[in-house]
Amino acid sequence: MTVPVVTIDGPSGSGKGTVAARLAQQLGWHCLDSGALYRLTGLAAQRAGVALGDAPALGALARNLAVEFRGEAVYLDGIEVSRELRSEATAAAASQVAALGAVREALLAWQRDYAQPPGLVADGRDMGTVVFPQALLTVFLDASVEERANRRYKQLIEKGITAILSDLVEELRVRDERDRSRPLAPLQAAPGALVIDSTGLTIAQVVQQIREALEQRLSGAG
Ligand code: DC
Repeated sequence: MTVPVVTIDGPSGSGKGTVAARLAQQLGWHCLDSGALYRLTGLAAQRAGVALGDAPALGALARNLAVEFRGEAVYLDGIEVSRELRSEATAAAASQVAALGAVREALLAWQRDYAQPPGLVADGRDMGTVVFPQALLTVFLDASVEERANRRYKQLIEKGITAILSDLVEELRVRDERDRSRPLAPLQAAPGALVIDSTGLTIAQVVQQIREALEQRLSGAG
């Protein structure tokens, strides 16, 4: 049986995580935050003292991650890491380990297992290009770097995490450049993707655009 999949790829802070979660909730579908798996690998490496360039060790680590998702909370080796997972330091580590084939390979089957009935909304960098190339609808969500840094700043402050806006702009630029220029599964729009620039749009407007495109696909019209 083919499970319908909607993929939402884009750079950090484009809003894809929030959009994916809301869309999945509205549709009653499963949701995969693939970035969390790369973040967990980066975090596990730092905790175990594994160098972020040690591909074989990181591949083994990614294959054997002891992770538990309980509602909004995430546990690694039985310890809650929800807050640490969202930090900029973890994001930077995730971006480094994500460049390694051994890590991407280790996480591939795990990600594909999320495609369960009645459907899946998956967000990340290579959901449409590599992990679910047969997706019913492939979305590429972008926004200007200033807007993305602003959004991240507000999110962090709301969570009580200290942040400096100009540092966030710089960190986003560095991370995006690494994610876009890596040879393996680089961040790019899949052929035929619905490209949405969310600068100046609300989450609800973006979700609505995706729902309209999805309805067309489901009815076989687009
Ligand atoms: O979406 P995020 O910020 O949680 O992702 C963290 C890092 O993980 C990001 O810099 C790139 C990497 N990543 C990836 O390479 N492929 C994915 N499908 C998702 C995330």
